[in-house]
Formats: sequence, structure tokens, C-alpha cells
Amino acid sequence: MDEGGSRIRRRVSVRKRDRPSLASDFAAPAAAELTPGDEEEEEEEMVAGNRRRRKTVEVQPVENNDSEEDMLGDYDSFAENSFLAQVDDLEQQYMQVPEHRKHASDLATEDLYSENIKHNKLSITTVGSFTELKTDEHIKNQCRHEDVSVEPEPDILYDVPSSQVLYFENLKSSSNDLGDHCTRERDWNASSHKTVNEELPQNSIEHHQQIDDSSSKVKSSSEENRRKSLKEHLKSAMTGNAKAQTPIFSRTKQLKETLLSEEINVAKKTIESSSNDLGPFYSLPSKVRDLYVQFKGIEKLYEWQHTCLTLNSVQERKNLIYSLPTSGGKTLVAEILMLQELLCRRRDVLMILPYVAIVQEKISGLSSFGIELGFFVEEYAGSKGKFPPIKRREKKSLYIATIEKGHSLVNSLIETGRIGSLGLVVVDELHMIGEGSRGAILEMTLAKILYTSKATQIIGMSATLNNVEDLQEFLQAEYYTSQFRPVELKEYLKINDAIYEVDSKAENSMTFSRLLGCQYSDTLKKMDPDHLVALVTEVIPNYSCLVFCPTKKNCENVAEMICKFLSKEYLKHREKEKHEVIKNLKNISSGNLCPVLKRTIPFGVAYHHSGLTSDERKLLEEAYSKGVLCLFTCTSTLAAGVNLPARRVILRAPYVAKEFLKRNQYKQMIGRAGRAGIDSIGESILILQEKDKQQVLELISRPLENCYSHLVQEFTKGIQTLFLSLIGLKIATNLDDIYHFMCGTFFGVQQKILLKEKSLWEITVESLKYLTEKGLLQKDTIDKSKEEIQCSFNITKLGRASFKGTIDLAYCDILYGDLKKGLEGLVLESLLHLIYLTTPYDMASQCVPDWMIYFRQFSQLSPAEQNVAALLGVSENFIGKKASGQAIKKKVDKDIVNRLYLSFVLYTLLKETNIWSVSEKFNMPRGYIQSLLTGAASFSSCVLHFCEELDEFWVYRALLVELTKKLTYCVKAELIPLMEVTGVLEGRARQLYNAGYKSLMHLANANPEVLIRTIDHLSRRQAKQIVSSAKMLLHEKAEALQEEVEELLRLPSDFPSMEASSTEKA
Ligand SMILES: Nc1ncnc2c1ncn2[C@@H]1O[C@H](COP(=O)(O)OP(=O)(O)OP(=O)(O)O)[C@@H](O)[C@H]1O
Ligand SMILES: [Mg+2]
Repeated sequence: MDEGGSRIRRRVSVRKRDRPSLASDFAAPAAAELTPGDEEEEEEEMVAGNRRRRKTVEVQPVENNDSEEDMLGDYDSFAENSFLAQVDDLEQQYMQVPEHRKHASDLATEDLYSENIKHNKLSITTVGSFTELKTDEHIKNQCRHEDVSVEPEPDILYDVPSSQVLYFENLKSSSNDLGDHCTRERDWNASSHKTVNEELPQNSIEHHQQIDDSSSKVKSSSEENRRKSLKEHLKSAMTGNAKAQTPIFSRTKQLKETLLSEEINVAKKTIESSSNDLGPFYSLPSKVRDLYVQFKGIEKLYEWQHTCLTLNSVQERKNLIYSLPTSGGKTLVAEILMLQELLCRRRDVLMILPYVAIVQEKISGLSSFGIELGFFVEEYAGSKGKFPPIKRREKKSLYIATIEKGHSLVNSLIETGRIGSLGLVVVDELHMIGEGSRGAILEMTLAKILYTSKATQIIGMSATLNNVEDLQEFLQAEYYTSQFRPVELKEYLKINDAIYEVDSKAENSMTFSRLLGCQYSDTLKKMDPDHLVALVTEVIPNYSCLVFCPTKKNCENVAEMICKFLSKEYLKHREKEKHEVIKNLKNISSGNLCPVLKRTIPFGVAYHHSGLTSDERKLLEEAYSKGVLCLFTCTSTLAAGVNLPARRVILRAPYVAKEFLKRNQYKQMIGRAGRAGIDSIGESILILQEKDKQQVLELISRPLENCYSHLVQEFTKGIQTLFLSLIGLKIATNLDDIYHFMCGTFFGVQQKILLKEKSLWEITVESLKYLTEKGLLQKDTIDKSKEEIQCSFNITKLGRASFKGTIDLAYCDILYGDLKKGLEGLVLESLLHLIYLTTPYDMASQCVPDWMIYFRQFSQLSPAEQNVAALLGVSENFIGKKASGQAIKKKVDKDIVNRLYLSFVLYTLLKETNIWSVSEKFNMPRGYIQSLLTGAASFSSCVLHFCEELDEFWVYRALLVELTKKLTYCVKAELIPLMEVTGVLEGRARQLYNAGYKSLMHLANANPEVLIRTIDHLSRRQAKQIVSSAKMLLHEKAEALQEEVEELLRLPSDFPSMEASSTEKA
């Protein structure tokens, strides 16, 4: 495959900024939980979906890759001593020890569960932390596993799903009695344990040494043993559970883990020595290479991937931007760099992705790597994520976050003085920096990292970058680009019934390709003037096809229209599986089914847009990925938010809603066609009318759009929020420093293009003045004689509350006023008043009530509920007049009226917990209602944090904690633990629950093979991902608890010493 376009461009000018690292200067304020702005959920959810779905599909090796480097190629220093060879050697040695030989075959199937069931006790096998094991000790250690007996927890042991119990019982009957052997092992283990003191902190060792009585020594040590055993129990049980790949204890696995640890050590040294020898796999253990083959089917790196990874700048850990066409394989490079950071440099990594669904998919995909290689994968999306993150003791964390959550995470790390622990930040789809308020948030995040942590490396990637120089200057980054695309993408245009191929060399940028030879009846011509039916039937049902439509309604209409003209033959294609899809759709929606989907799914066709609930969307996407559904009619959000590849992508018109298509959008949409490993070819067809021809010819030939900073344009969500947090976090508190910070932003780089009439200094001064006037900041008046330049700022209580609650500053004083008014007369007889206070302002401002429905709902209110409306100044009379179209003279606050309407929707939803019936009652798309609910849950927690900072609102705190819970878990309580697992939504949780998997422990211990047999519509890949994610989560929880236990057992650092107390006495 041609890689000719590959080039490396060095950064021509880097603005030298003298930025002292501030991390050490911070007096870290108390840790506080930060939550995302209410904007996040809406944006994220509206464009949800599962973008990178097929990345984790088992990928076939690409045929045309002669020039690619062989990943199993020879790196002589390691190849001879290869990992697999070492495993073989050790296994050989092991087999030569007679005692081992005797039991070797038994041990392969030794299962402690079989013993457990017999003794009614729970035994868990733990493998010693592989980083601690040494190869030379290995033969001795190979039997080392600890049996930890714990009295069975009823819901852990007896609640194991019946399928799993059966599985264990089978194992029991097939394994021999290993009692003696195990006892011997236990004895050996007991003597080989570390001493208690080795595990206790230094000060506690000293403390114990002071006691000079031998009996008390014994007592103390037995006490410690007890303590230790509690610790060990917790530790062993949980890590054992979480680590368990299958219930079968695998000695080979243990051997492999030891060697992996060795390899990591070697790799670490290699990286530290900065030698040119890259080790078996880019400084990583060869196991990583094996895992890529195993999990992703990737056997070789593309040549550009190898070049990029071996760039000097990458080796030197300089910041890097790289850009390649869609499907170029950008992710793999970022992942290898992340693994280097986690495993070899042993620092945490943050990966920022644009949407919740993509974060979830990445979590699922990388959890198995985390389990195999020993690092945590933590989700920061939607309602998930902890601020500041849990400090891990040994293993490092990979935080995978949305843009908003990534920002909150960075804030919390700065606040607690831990930003230095972040070794690498990877930003996927870097061009998003130029998109509205989310772009502004991304910019703030990166600018703060650049300013506060010089040692943190930043890597950005995108397929659609044009003005890279600006971004390079902002990020002080090197740039790498290549035109490589593993699967060729052919672009076509369709005008009338002629098809033209896009050809940059041709005059007019296109050449005639063929006529669409189709026989259309008069009716069909009328119904389908664009020949969509002819175009899609050239590929479906054997290949998949996406049809992008300008609006949601249009998606549904086009899906129905196509199905009307498809022959009955299409019904037969994978008929049974399509029926299953319908059945499952009904199951997850309490028996409801959208009538459009009911008609189209039997033909293998469905629409896909934000009007679907996330459960429906997930189910449809799964069916599409498996080829059960072969055609999606979708909006442009699918291009940005979901990884659903197709053989053919059709753009029904060059418009998104009423806007003409942008080049970036066009590129992202057509980029869905022909993904590596899935298709061997890909093609796109843009349908256009004569009137649009000129504009389309420009579209296909012009360069990609530039991306521009939105920091200042997004006033309240941008620059103001930034300044408040700079001062709140003490990153920069005086005018000079704040200006200095602004010079280093993306806006600072582009200021001369973006805002010619004002200087950066003026913009900075004005914004600070505005925040001061608004009562969010206070000027420090201590030294009036100082120049303005040195004038410093403090954050006020209201400012801190807004910052902590991540409230959009456009609404902070309205929120303050609403809460204050509530104090005078909060109606607590129903939830309505509280719900009103947590209904997101921005969603309310965009809402247009259906007045008839509003009136009907109003008239059904109880007196207490009517009282709420009256307190807010909304009368039945007003709504009645609106419903009957009468003129209204009295001025009524439209924002309050609209907000109350949305509160009605939420209030009904909390009462009925059925999205479908609420959707029908209020005539709103179910997907919208779901976004409203997540938006309200998120805003409710923001308001809670707002109130926590303001004493006068103490009364709201307890109320809001409960309300946030109610809004977050507006599902049946029993499903909540399962829904904590990444990618398990309500429908799937219900299925798992019904099959006996009732807790996280059940899922973490589940056997994927058993899962696919017992759960309808679950692929092997999904089952494995669910189990991996559950294991990872359980592991994380266990670590956190372990941390807590150790904290409790630790002697306080300020514990009064003997000396001090004796001096005092004297
Ligand atoms: N070296 C490789 N060999 C085979 N397949 C690969 C290789 N590298 C990546 N892939 C596969 O190619 C597909 C596309 O890769 P990836 O998702 O990284 O593309 P991308 O460059 O990020 O595209 P986009 O801009 O659309 O996000 C994935 O399925 C990935 O597993
Ligand atoms: Mg990508």
C-alpha cells in the first residue's frame, strides 16, 4: 500500500514562554468533588452511539501490507530470549521436579471452587503480584498461591448463577483430591510470607519495637496477624476474584505473569536508558504484541505507525500532533504510547474522547489489556468518575474521559497538587477544539496542563486538521502526517441518473463513471426520485450501507420508503435473528416498540438518531455490527459519534439540517466506508441536485476547514469559567500571570485573526472586571500602591460555589436567586418544587411547550403541586389562554414557564419510571426524555456542590443528595450494580439479572462462554468485554477498600511521640 504521502514537519516556530511549574507552589485546598457542567450530558447524550464499535472486532489481517513492518520481526536482543521460549523453558524445568510432575496434570484442572463447594467455604486463588516475583525464585514459587478461606457470604456463594454452579461442579467431579498437596503448599506459603512488619508502615514498626515484653510481643504479633489476615483476606479475596480469568488455576499463566513482570522491568530500563534498542515491541513486553493479535487481530503495524512510533520527537517525549485519513489506524499508535507510559514510565494517563459512547467502547476494549498487563482502566463519562481520582498505590491508572469529565479531572488533580502524576494526555479528534463550548473546555484543559505540568506529554490526533501550525504552536508540538488509508475509499457523486467519480486530477474534479441502469415504475419514480432504492439494493443485504439524511424525521421517512419497495426476498435474509431483534427491542422497552422500526427491521433496515433511547440504539448497533441489520438511515451525528462501518455510504443531500455540508463533516461521513479489517473496498455516493452542483464541486476540492478557538466567543462557558478556575485553583491569581496564561492558549495564538479590534491584554482586563462586577471575584486591596499589573484576585463564596458546581456563569445568579427564593417557601409535599430547581436552565431555554398538553397536565395537579406553580408565578389561567390561542397582556417570564413544563416531564417520569408512556403523554421523542433525565441528574449534583459552598443553603444539601440519587437511578434499584459496568444499559442489565447475575461479583466471575449461551443476543466479543469491564471495576473497588483498610490501620503521622509526651510531663 502506498505510503508516499508520509512526511514529517518540524515545528518552525515555538513561542518560548517562561512558565514556571506551579504545581509545587500550590497550597492545595481541601479535596473537593467536582462535577461536570449540565451542558455535558446533553451534548454527550444527543450524539451518543457507539462510534468505535468495530475497532475491537476481530480484525482480519490486511492483505496489502507488504511494506508494513512485521510485528513479529527480529529485535535481536530480545528475540532469542523470547518470552515464549522462556515460558517453555520454565515449564520444562517445572516438569522435571518429581513432585510437580506427579501433580502437574491434576494441577492444570485444580480448582479451588470444587473444594469450596465441598467445604461450604469460599476459597480464592491469588497469584502474587507479578511485579514482585523474580525469575530465579520461580521454580520455588511456582506453587505459590494462597488459599484464603472466608465464611461464605450468602449472596456471593449461594447466589452464583446456576449455570456457574454447574460449571464448578463439573470441574469438581473431574479433578482429583489434592488435599495433601494443597496443605503442603499452604504450609510453605505460610513460612514464606513476608513478616508482618514488612507490611506495616515504618512508624508502626518503631512503635512496636518499643514494647519489650516477650509475651506482649507474642500477643502483639498475633494481633497483627489478625489484622494482617483481615487485610490479606480482603486483598486476596478481591484481587483473586478480579484477576481470575477462568475458575481454572493456570500455572502457565502464573509463569507468564512472572515473565511479563521481568519484561516490564527490562522495558522500563530500556526506556530510561533512552537507547535506540526498542525492545521486543516498542519498549513494551512482547505480551502486548500477543494481546493485539489475540484481542484485535492486529498482527503487523502499518509502516507509518512504525515510523511515527520511532520518531525522535516521540522518543524524546515531545508533544505530538498526528493526522491521517479516517481509518488510518491512528488509535494503535496512541495506545502503544499510553502503554509505554503506564507500564514502563509508571505514570498515569488520561485519554480524552469526544462522546460517552466512545469512552464506554474504549473502556470495554482496553479493560482486558488492563487486566492482563496490570493497570487500571477508569471511566470518566456520564455519571461516572471520582474527583480527585483515587490514589493508587502500585498500579497506574488509565483514565478514559469525555471532554467535560477530562476537564474536571485535570482541575481536581491540580487542586490536590497531583497533576505531576499525569505522564501523558492523549486527545482523539483534536479538531473538536474548534467546536463551540466543548472546544473551549478542551482548550482550557490542555492550556492548564501546559501551564502547570511541564513533564506531562500531550498527544493529539485527527483525520480532519487543516491549520495545524496554530495547534502546533499552542501545544508546542511536533507534527506527523501521512495520506495512508488501508482500504481504498472511492468517492462518487450522483446527479440525476449519472454517477461520477471524484477525481482531483480531472477538469471539474470529477469523471463520468456509469449510468444508473434501473427500471423504475411511475410510482417508484415519484416516491424515490433520488434512486435510493436502486443504490442501496446494489449492496444490501450482503454488505452494509449507511444513508445519511439531513433531519431525524427524514431518516424515518427514508427507512420506511425504502422498505416499501424492497422485494419479499429481503424478509428471508437472517429472518430469525431479525425477529430476535424485535423481541429484544420490546423486552428492553417494557413491551413497547416504535411502529416505524416494527415495519423496517424485518427488511434489515432501521433509522438511527438521537430520538432513540440509548438501550434501543445499542441493540440496533449490535445487530448492525453483526450484519443482521444491513441498512441504517442516520443523521450526521452517527459520523462523529459511532463506529459503524459500511461498504457503501450514501449522502442523501449535501445538507445537515438546513446548513450546507462542511468539508470536515463530509470527510467524517464518507470515512465510515471501507474500514480496515472489515471491508476490502469502500465507496461513498453524494446525491445532489443540479442547483447544488457548483457548491458541491467546491466542497470536494477545497481544503478542510480551519479550526478556531472558541474560548472568548463562548463567553460564560469559556473565558469567564477559565478565569474563575485559574483563581479558584490558584493557578494564576494576578493580572500579569493571568495574561501570561492567556498568551499560552489556543486563543492567544489566534488572537490576531479572531479579535483584531482588541488586544489580549484588554480582553483579559475586561473579563476580570466583569467577573468582579458580578460578585464572583474580588480584587485584593491590600496594597493599593502596587501597579495594576500586580493586582491580584480572590474568588468570592459565590464564585467558588459556581466553580465547584461547574455552573454555566450565565445562570449562576439566577440559580442563586431561585434557591434563595426557595428558602422562603419550599413546597416539600411533593418532589415538584425540588425538581424544578434542578431542571437544567439551558434545556429549558430551548424548549417549546405544547400548550394543550401543558394545560391538561396543569389541571391534573394536586393543590400542593398547584401551590408550586403559584409560587413560581405561573397560573392555570395563563396556560389556558396559551392553549386556546388567546392574547395575553400580562408579562410572564417565559423561562420560568418553560422550565416548569420540563419539570412536569421529569416529575411524571420519576413517578411512572416509564420513558415510553411519558414520551406519549408529552409527545416528545423518548431519546430526548432520556437526555433530559440525565441532564437533570447531572445538574442536580451540580446544584448540590453549589449549595455545599454556601452556608445559607445548608438546608438543600440533604434534599439534593436524595434527589440526585432518584434522578440518576430512575430505574429499578436491583439493576443499579449491574449498570455500573461499562456498556451495560438497562435492557442488558435486566437480561443478566433474570439469568441470575445479580451483582458485580457475579459478572466479574462469569464465564463468557456460559454468558453467551444464557443471554439472548450477546456476542462472544460483548460477553468478554462485559466480564473484563466487571473484573476491572471489581478490582478497582477492591483496591479502594484495601486502601481504606490500610489507612485505618496506619498510625497517624501526627501521633504524639513518647519523647514529646515525656518532655511535656517534665
Ligand atoms: N496495523 C494494523 N493492522 C490491521 N488493522 C489495523 C492496524 N492498525 C489499525 N487497524 C484497524 O484499523 C481500523 C481503523 O483504525 P482506527 O480506528 O485507529 O482508525 P482512525 O485512524 O482512528 O480513524 P478515524 O479517524 O475514523 O477515527 C480499526 O479496526 C483497527 O483495529
Ligand atoms: Mg480514531
